[in-house]
Amino acid sequence: MAVLPILKWPDPRLSTRCAPVEDVGAVAGLVADMFETMYAAPGRGLAAPQVGVLSRLFVMDCTWKEGEKSPLVMINPVIMAAERVPVVMEEGCLSIPGVLVPVERPIAVTVQWTSETGEIHMGDFDGFEARCIQHEFDHLNGVVTFDRVVPEMRAGLEAQYAGVA
Ligand code: NI
Repeated sequence: MAVLPILKWPDPRLSTRCAPVEDVGAVAGLVADMFETMYAAPGRGLAAPQVGVLSRLFVMDCTWKEGEKSPLVMINPVIMAAERVPVVMEEGCLSIPGVLVPVERPIAVTVQWTSETGEIHMGDFDGFEARCIQHEFDHLNGVVTFDRVVPEMRAGLEAQYAGVA
């Protein structure tokens, strides 16, 4: 396992739509490295494009910072449904360090994904997990938090980022 370098915005790879994973058996090493990288960062979620791999997978663990690990790998995830109730929460991103962006997202989502062992799963998520999944899912489509706010707010946040980066 290895800690990989995390790309920082505006690296163009963070704005690129990722391709589906064709061979689930071939990504085990990448998944292990991504978990090690995420825990070392330290973060709660990491998408493959953030380490320069333009494939549709991400890792997350929303609870480890509170003392209990709950690692989850989602390969080729699809958001099947979303609650119509929108919630605004400030989101950090390992690729945009030092800036919290208030992003509006649905409060809950239903997701289908493939596991590391190639099984298809379906699950309902709310709270912080739903938030994290939607953030990481955005990365697979080349979307970052800056893309989720109105232009005036984005300009201010980008200026803040330029000051701390
Ligand atoms: Ni992020």
